[in-house]
Amino acid sequence: MRAGFGSYSLLLLLLCPVLLGQRSPQRRPKKPPRPAVTRKPPVPAAPAAPEAMEPAEPTDFPPPILNPPSPYDNCPRECSCNPIYPHTLYCENRNLRRVPQIPPDIYYLYLRNNYIDEVTADAFKNATDLKWVDLANNRVRRVDREVFKKIPNLLYLYMERNQMKEIPTDLPESLEQLRLSRNQISKIPAGAFNKLEHLVLLDLHHNRISDSNLGKNVFKDLKNLMQLNLAHNILRKMPSNVPTGIFQLFLDRNNIEDIPQDYFKDFNNLAFIRLNYNQLNDKGLPKMVFNISSLMDLHLAHNKLSVVPHFNGRLEHLHLNDNQIEHLNGTEICPHSALANPEDSGAVPRLRYLRLDGNHLSPPIPMDVITCFRHLHSIVI
Ligand SMILES: *[C@@H]1O[C@H](CO)[C@@H](O)[C@H](O)[C@H]1NC(C)=O
Ligand SMILES: *[C@@H]1O[C@H](CO)[C@@H](O)[C@H](O)[C@H]1NC(C)=O
Ligand SMILES: *[C@@H]1O[C@H](CO)[C@@H](O)[C@H](O)[C@H]1NC(C)=O
Repeated sequence: MRAGFGSYSLLLLLLCPVLLGQRSPQRRPKKPPRPAVTRKPPVPAAPAAPEAMEPAEPTDFPPPILNPPSPYDNCPRECSCNPIYPHTLYCENRNLRRVPQIPPDIYYLYLRNNYIDEVTADAFKNATDLKWVDLANNRVRRVDREVFKKIPNLLYLYMERNQMKEIPTDLPESLEQLRLSRNQISKIPAGAFNKLEHLVLLDLHHNRISDSNLGKNVFKDLKNLMQLNLAHNILRKMPSNVPTGIFQLFLDRNNIEDIPQDYFKDFNNLAFIRLNYNQLNDKGLPKMVFNISSLMDLHLAHNKLSVVPHFNGRLEHLHLNDNQIEHLNGTEICPHSALANPEDSGAVPRLRYLRLDGNHLSPPIPMDVITCFRHLHSIVI
């Protein structure tokens, strides 16, 4: 019981009043690794973002900022070109209303922070080598489907912070990252992602997606998907047919009430689940639903749980703050493998960080929690 006693003293130290109830933990869970990315050239320091004095009416838009004619071939006056990065076109922060003519040989196109509201194909006529298009923070409502026929090698499309109401159609099959967060998307045409078998990251957070917008098979063919972010939408159900190879699933800030019994059964790589700010209650969580052997990080803060759900011994971070939990019984939540093999150090649960503040619990931490979770570094109660 020496080890148990050691952990107990450590916990007492960490649980001094300063730490109690502290909102953001000192030791933040490590950031999930990003999916592999192609190297991109640096972006020059951006001038002040136009957001500060956002004009209300198009007539108030400031005029586009044009350069003197460029010494470099084909460099549009709306953009700047740098001979050190001959494949990159910098057109961000220039009050542009439309996409300038993109010269051939451009791989990386920066159009962030402008007032572009429509993307049409003519600008991309010669841009067949484009790999990376950054249109974030514009006013795009529509992308002409012909655009993607011109750029069949596109890998990354960044269109967060625009005014899209639906997913663009005919996205190129080569696409690896699609960022459409902070739009007004409520429409996902059937088959919108069907051909995107190279897609690794799909970010749709902060849109208006409801259960009825998500057809049963919307995500089914995304064989290589690693990260799916549907946070901040209006889902009441878990999305169906999420690819089982996925690594991160983010569903914070929806209205999800329950998770079907075998929902996570075939997920063998799932390491991060975020379900903060939903409507999950005990009845909606089948007892073993989070017994996922690959899971490292589980966020269930701001729900309606009164019982600590069961989890696998591999879990390292558990966020259960701001629920309605009244009892904490270490024997009941101790993963089965640890109970079955108390002497096997490999079976010691890996939980290191536990947040329980904002529930109906008060110190001290029960002894059986400490004896089971011997790797626990900090617990916020
Ligand atoms: C596009 O390519 C055609 C044929 O190579 C060329 O004549 C034209 O000037 C190019 N346009 C631009 C904007 O680079
Ligand atoms: C939990 O998952 C492990 C494998 O990860 C499995 O061996 C075990 O039987 C499961 N426990 C229950 C109670 O389903
Ligand atoms: C915790 O749960 C175990 C098993 O259900 C039970 O035997 C024990 O009495 C409980 N401990 C407390 C303090 O309620």
